[in-house]
Amino acid sequence: MSQIQRPRRNRKNQAIRDLVSETQILTQNLIYPVFVCEGNNTETPIKAMPGQSRWTPDLLSKKITEWKNLGLNHYALFPQIEESKKDSRGTEALNDNGLLPDTIKRLKDDHPEINIIADVALDPFSSDGHDGVVENGKILNDVSVEILSQMALKQAQWGADWVAPSDMMDGRIGSIRKLLDQHNFTDVNILAYSAKYASCFYGPFRDALQSAPKFGDKKTYQMDPRNTHEALRETLLDIEEGADMVMVKPGLPYLDVIARIKDISSVPVAAYNVSGEYAMIKAAVAMGVLDEDKAIYETMIAFRRAGASAILTYFAPQMAKLLRLN
Ligand code: PBG
Repeated sequence: MSQIQRPRRNRKNQAIRDLVSETQILTQNLIYPVFVCEGNNTETPIKAMPGQSRWTPDLLSKKITEWKNLGLNHYALFPQIEESKKDSRGTEALNDNGLLPDTIKRLKDDHPEINIIADVALDPFSSDGHDGVVENGKILNDVSVEILSQMALKQAQWGADWVAPSDMMDGRIGSIRKLLDQHNFTDVNILAYSAKYASCFYGPFRDALQSAPKFGDKKTYQMDPRNTHEALRETLLDIEEGADMVMVKPGLPYLDVIARIKDISSVPVAAYNVSGEYAMIKAAVAMGVLDEDKAIYETMIAFRRAGASAILTYFAPQMAKLLRLN
């Protein structure tokens, strides 16, 4: 057979495949989302997310020593708030003596070199389980933005390096940037959940934090999975309002959105490999139908290929270990 074009030549051995590989993944690309709860010296495994736990701040700090040794320097914190501390305005989110400030301060004391990312949304603190303030069954935009901005300011005062609004209210990035700057927190970055979809893949996370909405769904603020133009609009607005990095969430089912946003974004793009995506791989591995390490690696490479600079993933320690071995 006479054939000039034989693409397989560039795949004939590992060294050539490495030479022509277009995508790399490094531990420094990973952000580890971790769950925190009150108390001391306690780890509570999360049923819906095998291998993940809620940690009390002291234990979390110890674990971070381990994870740091693997090269993980970025942590997104998600506090589990006791039901008795929740109210309709999420007041606990502003408590200077709460779980989140305790945790941030402790981690920054013990590990000054790591980056702490604080989530800005009311759901873990709200008795309604929504990201904003609810009145008569509606999620109020502007009232929520005011509270969320106060929340971001508090997080900056407590020592967060980044604030990450995940609430999808209109105008929150601009409002947060303005308030941070007024208080001289010009150095605190904003990681904007810009294209955050109303997704079933957050199920295990809501289980972990017991933060599921008490009524209805999040479709009036999180995006409709049928749209991508809207994702570009949201992203461009967030960049204009001052986002330092924009994020697509969930990750795997939305790789097309990551790629489109990467094309138009003047700031780096992050992808959130969410709890449901994690649970799917874990379930398939438990069934004996997938090789876990290979599934994790291929998933991470997919995010990088699509254009993500940073990946938030519960697989961060496992991935970091894998990269060590290679
Ligand atoms: C809170 C928030 C959620 C996640 C991150 N921040 C849940 C939600 O919007 O309902 C989900 C993360 C995951 O599923 O891993 N606004």
